[in-house]
Amino acid sequence: MKTILDKLNWRYATKKFDNSKKLSSKNLNTLLEGGRLTASSYGLQPYHIFVIENADVRKELRKVSYDQPQITDASHLIVLANKPTFDHAMIDDYIENIMAVRGLDKDDLKDFSETMKSTLLDLPDAQKNTWTSNQAYIVLGNLMTIAAEMEIDACPMEGFENAKYNEILGLTEKGLNAAVVLAVGYRSAEDETQNHTKVRYSQEQIVTHI
Ligand SMILES: Cc1cc2nc3c(=O)[nH]c(=O)nc-3n(C[C@H](O)[C@H](O)[C@H](O)COP(=O)(O)O)c2cc1C
Repeated sequence: MKTILDKLNWRYATKKFDNSKKLSSKNLNTLLEGGRLTASSYGLQPYHIFVIENADVRKELRKVSYDQPQITDASHLIVLANKPTFDHAMIDDYIENIMAVRGLDKDDLKDFSETMKSTLLDLPDAQKNTWTSNQAYIVLGNLMTIAAEMEIDACPMEGFENAKYNEILGLTEKGLNAAVVLAVGYRSAEDETQNHTKVRYSQEQIVTHI
């Protein structure tokens, strides 16, 4: 049986996908459920997950992604969009959600709500953007590990013009910003990159036990 380390050594940032191979809807759903279950700071989930299958949209996105072929050839393109800014409404909405799911009253969550508001609402927009984008990257990491575990290939991608993505996908009017992309599917046998030895610092170099 393959261990998690076997799977993480198997995975690589796929450059060439086999465009005839698609994720089953069951596998796609498992992957997205894993993404949805990702932890976030306070549990606020200040992001949205877009799954792009539409070929015409993907052609447009490829033009603003340095013509990287993964954008059109992967089975599915996942765009993780963060909330570049937010106000009390995002926190109130989350509190309502907790009340509904856990059967609590507003008063039970008053302190928690105030803590979040006092910590987050006065941040300058640039910091709000960084913070929510950081949360979206946790989803990215989780999706990549889950994909590897399921032997689904993936390529994480920052090589795109995010203002153009926001325009093409209509994200700005939804209060969102394209943070990072994950192309998922199955590698082409012709992708030479799969044979490259991994380049990583050794544990001695990158881990310190104190
Ligand atoms: C956040 C992030 C952005 C990346 N952007 C791109 C990209 O736009 N295009 C690409 O081909 N690879 C991209 N990569 C892949 C990295 O180059 C790759 O993960 C790294 O070299 C390590 O190799 P490995 O993932 O194959 O082990 C990105 C990786 C990460 C984590």
